[in-house]
Amino acid sequence: MVQQKEETIQIYRGWDEFYHQEIGGKLDIFSKNGRLFDVIFAQQFDRSFLDSMCSLASQIRLLAKTKTGADKLSGLLNHKRAMLYFVQPSTRTFISFLNACHILGIKTSEIRGTTTSSEVKGESPEDTIRTFASYVDLIIARHPVEGFAEKTAWVLNRTERPVSVINGGSGPDQHPTQALLDIYTLERSFEHIGGLDGKKIAMVGDLKRGRTVRSLSYLMKNYRDIQLYFVAPEVFRMKDDIKDFLKKHDIPFFETEDFASVKPVVDAIYMTRIQKEYAETPSKETDVYPEFHITRDDLGIIQSHCIIMHPLPRRYEIEIEVDNDPRAVYWRQERNGMWIRAALIAYLFGVDEEIMYEFR
Ligand code: NCD
Repeated sequence: MVQQKEETIQIYRGWDEFYHQEIGGKLDIFSKNGRLFDVIFAQQFDRSFLDSMCSLASQIRLLAKTKTGADKLSGLLNHKRAMLYFVQPSTRTFISFLNACHILGIKTSEIRGTTTSSEVKGESPEDTIRTFASYVDLIIARHPVEGFAEKTAWVLNRTERPVSVINGGSGPDQHPTQALLDIYTLERSFEHIGGLDGKKIAMVGDLKRGRTVRSLSYLMKNYRDIQLYFVAPEVFRMKDDIKDFLKKHDIPFFETEDFASVKPVVDAIYMTRIQKEYAETPSKETDVYPEFHITRDDLGIIQSHCIIMHPLPRRYEIEIEVDNDPRAVYWRQERNGMWIRAALIAYLFGVDEEIMYEFR
């Protein structure tokens, strides 16, 4: 008993030091044999990885259209099991991961709140996660606490049974797989006009607490000649860590509260909602900022190829009438999430090449 306790303490020793270091020193532990093993930060993705994920997602999308292709895909990983540990509300990320697993034949189990797990009895979240690792081969975690998925992966990598961990959203910090589906959507939408390279992208709304725009900003270093427009109310401006990152990588960004001047010049507008759940007193905060919304009148102002994106859920940011415009891509964007998450999981289990080159 005493020995067991000491072992547990050993496993957690060093976490604080690890957590507070620069990102560059952290990445190795989440890779094995030159491949990503855990997906925790957007900074883990380079251009060749992003390109290959987009191609793989398209291949899976095409295969899944036919019964023969779908059968092949679902036979690939039917000996694997995944746990979806989503203790923060989620609709799209949860359902798309669940279906991504099922496309590949992976069996799934889920916990959607700490009230139904032994955390109620006082078990630490880290011990709960270790328990999952005893039963499954992949853990996908969404948690309100920044760094939770990272800690999970770090802990498991120090045990005898490391299993891959995917971050499905870590508080207001990062949402790396959302950034993947955003890249896939941007690349697909700009397929006939040279892809994402060289494009001007506006990110609008709560840039301070919106993890999707934070993760997506990190990925911009992988593309050539990108210009970013950060359009936010003064209180929700993009945080310095992201701005410092962009400066370091020579990615031009402009900050403004004047959305009207940005609308006609950009190639993509990425709308976000006000993340009220992170407010100290949510009842005192409004999530309606009409100057930062898109309405049907804007459809005559934006460029003919300018796409409108949103990670969803939407509140007031985009008028419903905008949905029918071909440039409104947010419903396609959420579906893209399923394909690229299937691609990512296929890669983590090493069946990516088989799908790409052997399934014809
Ligand atoms: C986003 C999230 O959870 O961060 N939603 C999602 O995953 N599609 C955006 C949001 O909640 O505003």
